[in-house]
Amino acid sequence: MKIEVPKDKCGKLLTSEPVIVITTVDKKGNVNGAAFGSYVRVAPLIMVAIFSGHHTYSNIKETEEFVVNLPGRDQIDSIMVFGKSYPKGVNEIQEAGLTELKSTIVRPPKIEEYKAHIECRFKWEKEVGSHMLVAGEMLIGSCDEGLLDEEGYFDVVKAEGKLN
Ligand SMILES: Cc1cc2nc3c(=O)[nH]c(=O)nc-3n(C[C@H](O)[C@H](O)[C@H](O)COP(=O)(O)O)c2cc1C
Repeated sequence: MKIEVPKDKCGKLLTSEPVIVITTVDKKGNVNGAAFGSYVRVAPLIMVAIFSGHHTYSNIKETEEFVVNLPGRDQIDSIMVFGKSYPKGVNEIQEAGLTELKSTIVRPPKIEEYKAHIECRFKWEKEVGSHMLVAGEMLIGSCDEGLLDEEGYFDVVKAEGKLN
């Protein structure tokens, strides 16, 4: 037997993508990190649904840069920190006990302990319901040695699986 799911709940049938942490800086250089599950990548862009009240959104508007960080299963505890709301100026990377790693092109740092990173530059945005769909161009990536397969795809099994 099937149960009917109403229009406004249909999105809940699609569970989250593997969770990512987006790192940004404000115009003074204060670092921010937050967890995101609603995104899609259509190379060369990645589009993320970000609530406009989030520091991540205001930082991207201020500096036009962000970094997508991919955790592994062993980093699940830190996701809880990145999903929590802190006052502006709090560095969630430090709160999570993790380490900043200098990015190659953009100002926001990468998270050293995480498995992979993509540096992005803001391209455009569109209002969708309560969120802003923010598109960034993927500029350069990095990942732990040994985690790419022969065709250059990120090997989720070797990375102990990404979070869901
Ligand atoms: C697993 C998970 C997924 C999340 N996905 C999103 C998302 O896709 N979009 C969003 O706006 N917030 C999402 N959040 C909530 C933000 O991470 C949270 O509100 C965070 O405090 C925002 O931080 P900021 O104000 O520093 O940007 C998610 C939280 C968790 C734990």
